[in-house]
Amino acid sequence: MLKFLLGIVVAVVVVVTAGFCYVRFGFVDARADLPVDWLESKIAMPALDAAVDRRAPETHNPIQPTDANLVAGMKIYQSNCAGCHGDIQHSHAEFGDGFYPRAPQFVEDAPDMPENQNLYIIQHGIRLSGMPAWKKTLSEQETWQVTGFLSHMDKLSPQVSADWKKAADMVGVSSAPDASTSEQAQELLNAASQATPCGRRDAAVIGLLLGCGPRRSETVKLRLDQLQLRESHWVIVDMVGKGGRLRTIPMPAWCKGLIDAWVRETGVTEGKVFRRVSKTGTRQGEGVTTDVVWYAVKRYAKRIGIYHLAPHDLRRTCARLCLEAGGELEQIQLLLGHASVQTTERYIGCRQNLREAVNDRFRISPSNRMFTESTAVA
Ligand code: HEC
Repeated sequence: MLKFLLGIVVAVVVVVTAGFCYVRFGFVDARADLPVDWLESKIAMPALDAAVDRRAPETHNPIQPTDANLVAGMKIYQSNCAGCHGDIQHSHAEFGDGFYPRAPQFVEDAPDMPENQNLYIIQHGIRLSGMPAWKKTLSEQETWQVTGFLSHMDKLSPQVSADWKKAADMVGVSSAPDASTSEQAQELLNAASQATPCGRRDAAVIGLLLGCGPRRSETVKLRLDQLQLRESHWVIVDMVGKGGRLRTIPMPAWCKGLIDAWVRETGVTEGKVFRRVSKTGTRQGEGVTTDVVWYAVKRYAKRIGIYHLAPHDLRRTCARLCLEAGGELEQIQLLLGHASVQTTERYIGCRQNLREAVNDRFRISPSNRMFTESTAVA
């Protein structure tokens, strides 16, 4: 009897050791581009379903599936999920096939799990798969919106479908910034709340990016003594740009106003303009890193519903707004510190302005005689 028991113990030890060695010494194939195997689909997938079923809290979507909410969900889906899960114009996202397990293609196979389970998966992600946890990226309301969108994906109204088509068409067509109109730029500026020291600083940063178009690295290096009056206009002097080129940047009064508000409140009197703010709202000695600029832009852009907006896009927005307001290309080149006007041109992206066409600006017109003659011919 004892021998028998010993035999069992030895067998278990051998099996466990063999299993350990198999995994530890590289016999498991770690490639993601293998066919999904039997173990995965017969054991891991049902295990995943059971785990989600057991843990997802019994909640109900507080957001009504109105067209407006579905469109909001669609936008979140389009900017965060479509690349892996496909969309109305790209029903199969090739990228999603690069994962193991594969990312399900929701347009081909609509997600039919209960909403509380989808919410749980979206919030927490799926371990050892390509599905990220979105809890830190999306607010609870946004997560419910995209969840609602998932469950209505195969029964959208014609209006929402049309909006989705339009949004999906934009994918990959251009990486142009969304804050390209002056209304959006205004909205972004308003979004930076001015109530807290951090908000005031971020408003000044965003104002500077929109108003003067500096690079992110130039923004964090800006010193107080560089702000000077020249020809009764505020400017930033001696901005050192790419290739060590120096330039003077004119600064709109509203932009100076935002910087003043930040500086006055925090009592910065010399050195770097932008400083770190602690969690409790007090200013710290050190300057900010370029990440702070990046997060400020992201945070406020997201508040007005623009995803994927980076500081560099605001530099482009600044250039575009200058051009639309009739600014000359050479002046915009000087503002941005480009080596050549061709760079500026490429940068703005030659968008022909048809509404205010350049050849409408000068006034010559045919004499009356010519007019009558030509109409006579026609
Ligand atoms: C980087 C690629 C990627 C992105 C981006 C992504 N997912 Fe996923 N997602 C996956 C993969 C891969 C799976 C499959 C995981 C598995 O089966 O173990 C998955 C699974 C899911 C599932 C479970 C589906 C099912 O039938 O089991 C849901 C729901 C889901 N994703 C929703 C979303 C939403 C909503 C977003 C955007 C907020 C998103 N995903 C973004 C890769 C991605």
